[in-house]
Amino acid sequence: HLSTTSVARAGQIHEMIVIGGGLMGAGIAQVGAQTGHKVTLVDLNQEVLDRSQARIQASIQRVAKKQFQGDPSAGETFVQSALANLQIATQPHAALATADLVVEAVVENLELKRKIFQEYDAIAPAKTIFASNTSSLPIGDIATATQRLDRFGGLHFFNPVPVMKLLEVIRIPETSDATFQAMLDWGQAMKKTTVKCQDTPGFIVNRILVPTMMEAVRMVERGDASTRDVDTAMKLGAGHPMGPFELADYVGLDTVKFILDGWHAKYPDQPLFKPSDMLNQLVDSGKFGIKSGEGFYKYE
Ligand code: CAA
Ligand code: NAD
Repeated sequence: HLSTTSVARAGQIHEMIVIGGGLMGAGIAQVGAQTGHKVTLVDLNQEVLDRSQARIQASIQRVAKKQFQGDPSAGETFVQSALANLQIATQPHAALATADLVVEAVVENLELKRKIFQEYDAIAPAKTIFASNTSSLPIGDIATATQRLDRFGGLHFFNPVPVMKLLEVIRIPETSDATFQAMLDWGQAMKKTTVKCQDTPGFIVNRILVPTMMEAVRMVERGDASTRDVDTAMKLGAGHPMGPFELADYVGLDTVKFILDGWHAKYPDQPLFKPSDMLNQLVDSGKFGIKSGEGFYKYE
C-alpha cells in the first residue's frame, strides 16, 4: 500500500542531508551549499568529516576564483556564505527532523544503502524525499528498504561534481509525479542540467560510458592499438575531454570493475558487460588508477 503523503512542493527543497562525505558526497554538499540550500553532511566520524570539509573548502576556492575573476572580495563573500550553509554531523537525527531531501552517497554496497535508508525512514518526516547517487545499483532494490517508494528516486551526479553540469534524475515505477518534479526542480536550483531516465542499468551515461571503456580495453587486449593511441584518438577524433583509459583511471578501476561485475552477474548474456582479464589483473594487483598512483598509467 503506497502512502499519498504530499512531498516538499516543487521548488520547495531548502534543507538537504547528504550521507557520505567522500568524493561524490562532498561535491554534492558543496554545490548544495553554493546554491543556497541548508546542507548537513553526514559521515561515520569526525576525522572523515574534517577531510571532506577541507576538500570542500579547497574546491569552493577554485570555483570562486573562476567565477569572480578580478573581484576577490565578491569571491570571498561567495565562499563565506556557502560555508555558512554547510553543517557536518556524525548523526542525522537533528537535521532529519526538518529535511526536505536526503541524498545518499555512501560506498557502492546495496546492503549498506538499504540499512541506512531503513533507519532514516523510521525517523524522517513524511515530506522528506529520499534519493541515491548510486552509479550502478537498481534504485528499486534500494528503495524497497523503506515505506516511501512514492518519495524515492535516483539523483546521479558526475565527478567532479562542482564542474560537471549534468544531473540524471531517475524514477522507479512507484515514484510519484510530485516527487519527480521536485527532484527535477531541485536539479535546476543546483544549477545542473537535468535529464530523465528510468531505473535501468547505468542510467544514461554509465550505460554508454562503461561499455565504451571496456571496448577500448578489449581493443588493447587484442593488440590492435596502444592505450595511449586509443586515448589520443578518442580525444582528437571524437572530441572527448579524456580518453577512455584516462577516464577509467580517473573514475577508479575498482569502481569500473565493480560496476561491470555486478551487471555481468545480472545479465550474463550481454556481451557489452563481459569481464576483462586485463582489468581484473590491474585491480587484483592494487592498481586502481589515480587514487592508488597507478592504473593504466602511472601517476606521480
Ligand atoms: N572543484 C572545483 N573546480 C574544479 C575541480 C574541482 N574538484 N576540478 C576542476 N575544476 C575546475 C577549476 O576551475 C579548474 O581550474 P583551476 O585549475 O584554475 O582551479 C578547471 O576546472 C580546469 O581543471 P583542470 O585544469 O584541472 O583540468 P581540465 O581542464 O582537464 O578539466 C575535467 C578537468 C573537468 C575533469 C575534464 O578533464 C573532464 O571533463 N573530464 C571528464 C570527466 C568525466 O567524464 N566525468 C564523468 C565520470 S563518470 C561519473 O562520474 C559517473 C559514475 O557513476 C562513475
Ligand atoms: P567514496 O568512497 O569516496 O565515499 C564514500 C563515503 O561514504 C566515505 O566517506 C565513507 O566514510 C562514507 N560512509 C561509509 N559508510 C557510511 C555510513 N554508514 N554512514 C555515512 N557515511 C558512510 O565513494 P564515492 O566515489 O564518493 O561514491 C559514493 C557513491 O556515489 C557510490 O554509490 C558510487 O557508486 C556513486 N558515484 C560515484 C562516482 C565516482 O566517479 N566515484 C560517480 C557517480 C556516482
